[in-house]
Amino acid sequence: MSSPKLPIEALLAEERLFEPTAALREQANMKDAGVYAKAQQDREGFWAEAARSLDWFKPWEKVLEWNPPTAQWFIGGKINVSYNCLDRHVKTWRRNKAALIWEGEPGEERVLTYADLYREVNKFANVMKKLGIRKGDRVTIYMPMVPELPIALLACARIGAPHSVVFGGFSAESLRDRINDAQSKLVITADGSYRRGQIVPLKRNVDAAIKECPCVENVILLKRLGDAAFIHVQEGRDHWWHRLMADAQAYCEPEAMDAEDPLFILYTSGTTAKPKGILHTTAGYLVGASLTHRWVFDIKEEDVYWCTADIGWVTGHSYIVYGPLANGTTGLMYEGSPDWPEKDRWWQMVAKYGVNILYTAPTAIRAFMKWGEKYPDQHDLSSLRLLGSVGEPINPEAWMWYHDVIGKGKCPIVDTWWQTETGSILISPLPGLTAMKPGSATFPLPGIDADVVDETGQSVPLGGGGYLVLKSPWPSMARTIYGDPERYVQTYWNRFGKEVYFAGDGCKRDSQGYFWLLGRVDDVMNVSGHRISTMEVESALVDHHEVAEAAVIGRKDEIKGEAIAAFVTLKEGALSDVEKVSELKKHVSEKIGSIARPDAIFFTAELPKTRSGKIMRRLLRDIAEGRALGDTTTLADATVVAKLKSQYEES
Ligand code: PRX
Repeated sequence: MSSPKLPIEALLAEERLFEPTAALREQANMKDAGVYAKAQQDREGFWAEAARSLDWFKPWEKVLEWNPPTAQWFIGGKINVSYNCLDRHVKTWRRNKAALIWEGEPGEERVLTYADLYREVNKFANVMKKLGIRKGDRVTIYMPMVPELPIALLACARIGAPHSVVFGGFSAESLRDRINDAQSKLVITADGSYRRGQIVPLKRNVDAAIKECPCVENVILLKRLGDAAFIHVQEGRDHWWHRLMADAQAYCEPEAMDAEDPLFILYTSGTTAKPKGILHTTAGYLVGASLTHRWVFDIKEEDVYWCTADIGWVTGHSYIVYGPLANGTTGLMYEGSPDWPEKDRWWQMVAKYGVNILYTAPTAIRAFMKWGEKYPDQHDLSSLRLLGSVGEPINPEAWMWYHDVIGKGKCPIVDTWWQTETGSILISPLPGLTAMKPGSATFPLPGIDADVVDETGQSVPLGGGGYLVLKSPWPSMARTIYGDPERYVQTYWNRFGKEVYFAGDGCKRDSQGYFWLLGRVDDVMNVSGHRISTMEVESALVDHHEVAEAAVIGRKDEIKGEAIAAFVTLKEGALSDVEKVSELKKHVSEKIGSIARPDAIFFTAELPKTRSGKIMRRLLRDIAEGRALGDTTTLADATVVAKLKSQYEES
């Protein structure tokens, strides 16, 4: 379980029910309660109807081809994502509507209308073409949260070059591995970025990474810091963004993409040390992202919508870039940290831009709770009308705080469950229809066939718990793991047979059928809403020359949900002192990125293992969370864990 919360029994007994008000029902984008049943009766018809809200160059011939576990949607259809996000809006009055309102951490402001975004995307698409990028070529993007980041994504979509965005918090080594896995010919980056007033040296990481990436032919470099950073520019390979744009042609014909052509790859952690390149395709993904954005956030033409995620994660892909822009929304985008220069930065921005819809993560809400009400209370938050949560289970206490302190008791909260692999939100309230319970993501959306099953794959009756699965395909589902189709099948379509998608999350349903997500059931941690594999951190630790063995667990953390704790056995003769702790933390940051930096490292002479040599993480979790030890009968040597527990308690 990944979040500080009440025992599940207490959750299931939740009696607080927040019904939509009559006014909310009245104006909702989706107010027909019959939509769930209709979608269930005719799933393909439901998705075809949703797909009709997009502009197609050529209509599809068949909605779905399902050869489990391979799904193909909207077969024969031709479409372009950037056309749907830009061209169709600039042909209407939306031409001069704000598409993006951007604020940099130091305080700069920029507003890009749909016409502005259209112009920049067209030019940048031509820039990439001139550098030899063609349909199907992969492009890695390692950029700060600046408008040029969505511009780069949309330009890739325009010419049919799948992008692979790597979050700016990942290290040079992680970047290198992702570039090589995707075999990207082009890397787009910036000289750097600002985070809590500090400079993030993105280009330096790119230089280190591509020393070992023979596939990279060109680097496009955006000037974000100006003279604030010393930048190495390699003649012939590195090109300044603004110089290339100065000569770029104004119009680039959007590529007519097949519905099933790849749109992007996005790496996410799995149960092994190697991240998985989740591949999404064109039409189905956009259908899912745009429909859910319209219904779940109840988006209206005049709304100012703010999703606080980074575009380096799937939330940013679907709910900053593709969903909102396909719907012609005005989105706010912010570069920096919520507590810079003060802990009221977000609330100041909500008031300044009149934000109506705010979509963020429980970890942020818990941090604000800890900082206290005085920060939101300094600002006028009356523009807010709907709040969203994503990334991990939201504990009822944080839900109530969000509802009362931020939403002033008048905003519905959509707790949205989904994953990088699902492409778009699958379980969530619909604001005009669903009575919310604090801490529950409520029900699967129309068209989504979710269930909770036991070990044998049998559906568990209401009131019981088990594994969350999806029993029918949906348009925005991942199509494969890039370069490793076998792993895709093994990971998601094997546990309960090849027709059932295994999400990797535990889930319970209460007597009314509400879904209560319980966190990951595999060795994947959820740290501040980010997926990190225990294996990834372990292999980074054992890569250090003095480490013999390491076991990593996620232990409960009040703010982050889970915090990384590592139990480490050093090689003979190595010193286990405080310096070593900092050195190992730094080592992990360098190998993976600062998001994977362990919070705590404990040295131990031995790790608790079963007789077959498997490390018993469950017991380590008991130790780290100060609980009595669970069943130790399968241990090879029970004294190891007892010793470790007393040592831990003394430390
Ligand atoms: O464990 C679930 C948790 O985040 C995982 C997916 O992580 P990622 O692919 O990085 O995508 C995060 C943003 C969509 C899930 O397997 N998770 C995500 N949203 C929720 C959640 N757990 C509970 N409630 C949620 N609303």
